[in-house]
Amino acid sequence: MSDLMRFGVSLEKNLLKDFDRLTAAREYSNRSEAIRDLIRNSLVEDEWKKGKDVAGAISLVYDHHKRELMNVIVEIQHDYQDTIVASQHVHLDHHNCLEVIIVKGKSDHIKKLSDRLRAVRGVKHGSLTLTTLGKEL
Ligand code: NI
Repeated sequence: MSDLMRFGVSLEKNLLKDFDRLTAAREYSNRSEAIRDLIRNSLVEDEWKKGKDVAGAISLVYDHHKRELMNVIVEIQHDYQDTIVASQHVHLDHHNCLEVIIVKGKSDHIKKLSDRLRAVRGVKHGSLTLTTLGKEL
């Protein structure tokens, strides 16, 4: 961060107290770091809503004993080979697998992929975490 700018913020006392509590609880070293993170999160959310280029990770937990399920998951991923950067499969325990799929591309496209994977019968949990390519941050 080379061009650091300062600006003043006015807050109600109680709101600031709550914010300081949150800053401490989330282990930010100071208010500025906490505010920067909140702003970045809002910008990422905005990019995501506008269908811009984003990057992210789709996490899936499923029972690998359901063979058909794995075929469907692989099939869907092949439809999105331009979007998927990498994937990692971890055997959590005797039944459960965790798959993390790293994605990059248009947010609406990624959302669609995530929705399709999470909707596969037998997927116990799925989540999509988006971040930004950082061009404007
Ligand atoms: Ni496995």
